[in-house]
Formats: sequence, C-alpha cells, structure tokens
Amino acid sequence: MAVPGILIVLINTAAATAAAAEKNCHIDPRTVYATPFITSKTSKYGLGMEGVSVDSTGTVYATAYGGGSSNGLGTIATPDGTAHQQLFSVDQTGGISYNGLRFLPLSPELSKQFLSRAVATDVIGHQIVHLLQATFERRVRLYTFCRNDSMAQPNDMAVAAKSGRLYISGGKFDRLTTVIGDGDLWMCETPSSFYRASATELGPVPAQRLGLFGITNGIELSPDERTLYLSESFNRNGLVAENKIWKFAVDPATGAVSNRTLFADFREVDGTEWQDVDGIRSDMDGNLFVARNGPEGMVVKLSPEGKLLLTIRAPGLIEATNLDLAGVNGTSLFVVGKCVDEPEKGCVDVWSGNASPGRAWTQLKTQNPEP
Ligand SMILES: *[C@@H]1O[C@H](CO)[C@@H](O)[C@H](O)[C@H]1NC(C)=O
Ligand SMILES: *[C@@H]1O[C@H](CO)[C@@H](O)[C@H](O)[C@H]1NC(C)=O
Ligand SMILES: *[C@@H]1O[C@H](CO)[C@@H](O)[C@H](O)[C@H]1NC(C)=O
Repeated sequence: MAVPGILIVLINTAAATAAAAEKNCHIDPRTVYATPFITSKTSKYGLGMEGVSVDSTGTVYATAYGGGSSNGLGTIATPDGTAHQQLFSVDQTGGISYNGLRFLPLSPELSKQFLSRAVATDVIGHQIVHLLQATFERRVRLYTFCRNDSMAQPNDMAVAAKSGRLYISGGKFDRLTTVIGDGDLWMCETPSSFYRASATELGPVPAQRLGLFGITNGIELSPDERTLYLSESFNRNGLVAENKIWKFAVDPATGAVSNRTLFADFREVDGTEWQDVDGIRSDMDGNLFVARNGPEGMVVKLSPEGKLLLTIRAPGLIEATNLDLAGVNGTSLFVVGKCVDEPEKGCVDVWSGNASPGRAWTQLKTQNPEP
C-alpha cells in the first residue's frame, strides 16, 4: 500500500517541477555569454564608447576613439571579425560630442567620388553630422546633415535607407523627474533614397519633429522599414522608474509614424524597468537586440512580437551602451560599454550565435535593394 503513495508523491513532484520550468522559461528563457573582444588592456576607447555601426565592407566602428572625450570615431573590427582599432575621424574644433553613428549606402553616383559616408549624432551641436570620405584624399570631412536647436540631444538614429530618411531619438537625462517633452522623435528626410542619392542631394536637409516623449534613446526600424521601434524611459525622484519600447507604423509615402503600440515594458519582460534601454539593432528576421545600460553587461533579444528570446551576458562590460551585428556572416553581435575592470575605458564583447544577419550589415552590402 505504501507503493502507490510514493508514486503519487513522485508524480506531484514531477508536475511541480514542470510548472516551475514553464514559469522559469517565461521569466528567464535562455542565457548565453558573450566573449571579451577588446579589453581594458588593449582598448583605445574612452568611457563614452557608443554608436557601434557597421559599414558596407563589414568594418565595425564606434565612438570615443582616442580616450575620454567623444570627438573621435574609430574601428573596432575588420570585416572578418578580427579586432582592429584605427582612427576613422576626429573633430578638432572641440565643438562636437558624438553619440550615435550609422553608415549610409553609397549610391552608384556617389561611389565615384566617395569611399564612405556616415551620419553621427552630435549631442552638443543639436545636429546630425554628415561624414564624407573622399576617395582621392581619404580624409573624412564633416558637414551638417540636419539640425534643430529644439532637439533634446540628439542621441541615436535609425536609417531608412530605401526611403532616404533618418529617425532620431534624444532626451534630457539630467532631470530628476522626467516629464513628456524631455525627449523627442525627429525625422530628417532626403530628396531620394540613400541608394539613389546624387551629389546635389548631400544636404543639409530639414529636421522635422514627429513627437514629444519622456527620454527616448534606442531607435531602430524593421527590415522592411514599415515599423519603427523607439525606447522611452522616465526618471522619478532621481531613480530610473520606467523603460518601455514602443512600436509605430511608418507611412512609406510620407515617413510619418502612427498607431503607437506598446512593444515591450521591461517591468513585465524581465523586471528590469530600472535599467535604461540603450542602443537597439534588428536582424533580418526582425528580432531586436537591446542594450541594457545597467550594472552588468546585458543585452536582450526580443522577437518581432516583443517576446524575450534570449538574455546575452557580456562579462567584460558594465553599462552596455550599443551594439551591432557584423563579422564574416553578419551574425556576430558586437556589444560596447564601460570595461568591467576599468570603467574609464570602453570595452567590446562579442557573441557569435545568431541565426540571422544584421539589418545594416545585410542592407549596406546590397547595392540596389529596391524592386
Ligand atoms: C525647429 O523645430 C521646431 C519644432 O518642430 C520648429 O518650430 C522650428 O521652426 C524648427 N526650427 C528650424 C530652424 O527649422
Ligand atoms: C495598429 O496596431 C494594431 C494593434 O497592434 C494592429 O492590429 C493594426 O493592424 C495596426 N494598424 C496599422 C496601420 O499598422
Ligand atoms: C560563418 O558561416 C560558416 C558557414 O555556415 C560557418 O562555418 C562559420 O562558423 C560561421 N562563422 C561565424 C563567425 O559565425
């Protein structure tokens, strides 16, 4: 008679374990670990390291090259995914502080004159800087791409290469309690697609404000450029109290955004609403990689439905600021932040396990993706 009793106990235990596993799976699915790639021993980057961005050759760049101030841009990896730190451009006027960086495609016409073309947010100048590297002299020259003194910052950008539009975030981080209007969303629109741009269309172009928010930061588009993702955070009494990602429908004709829908609320996703969302990048399957600017190096991968798929720990970093997918197959995630052992320097960790290549990596390699 004792035997059935034991069986019942065993079955109950198994059921409880299965229920706990399911609950666990919902709260904390899979955790994977990135590998230190550029460490404090070798880093040429400062604590403001940000703006990870891949170009059309697959070379990866970041901001804060050269140490403390954020006026230098440099490389972090070669197209085959080997660490390589080299100066790309430094502002010598002292008036620029870079945060976000993105490379633009070169149209057939522009590629006759230029080797590369990028845009970077300048937090001090309330402008997007256009960086043009001429083929014959290799030097990178800086121009204003768009600006408006009403911009909260700007912080980061998403490139809609097919339409020739930039979407820009930004916020006033120094407010103890955030109110709507401390952050914003802007759009800078060029006369034609970045894939077709001509030398007469290099700007400057007008900046248009699309909306006022709490602090906005991470910003990205879906691979079809029909959905815009934008993070919004609120401080309350000096503490970070809320972090969400919104999604919007993008009107392909005008670039206007509508139909604001909650995509992810980190209070619900994993209980980390007190950690700021920083850079966001999408892969070609429409999954989002979200840098979490918290006490441990952390990135989350969210499905196009906003479901938590993966937590990626970056042991070489604290306060992950930004990321991008690159490497030989475009599937290696380069994450930057402060070095865990020497926070006044910028470090890089890499995780090479994604199935789908990055949006920018893929689209920049394609000369003319339009039908
Ligand atoms: C800057 O943006 C504000 C808000 O949209 C607008 O009222 C103002 O005219 C813009 N300034 C310039 C110089 O375009
Ligand atoms: C607006 O969002 C709702 C809910 O997510 C969705 O069902 C609808 O299709 C969206 N409309 C547009 C124009 O994107
Ligand atoms: C790139 O893809 C090839 C072929 O699938 C594979 O063997 C290799 O391990 C991949 N490399 C990386 C860094 O993902």
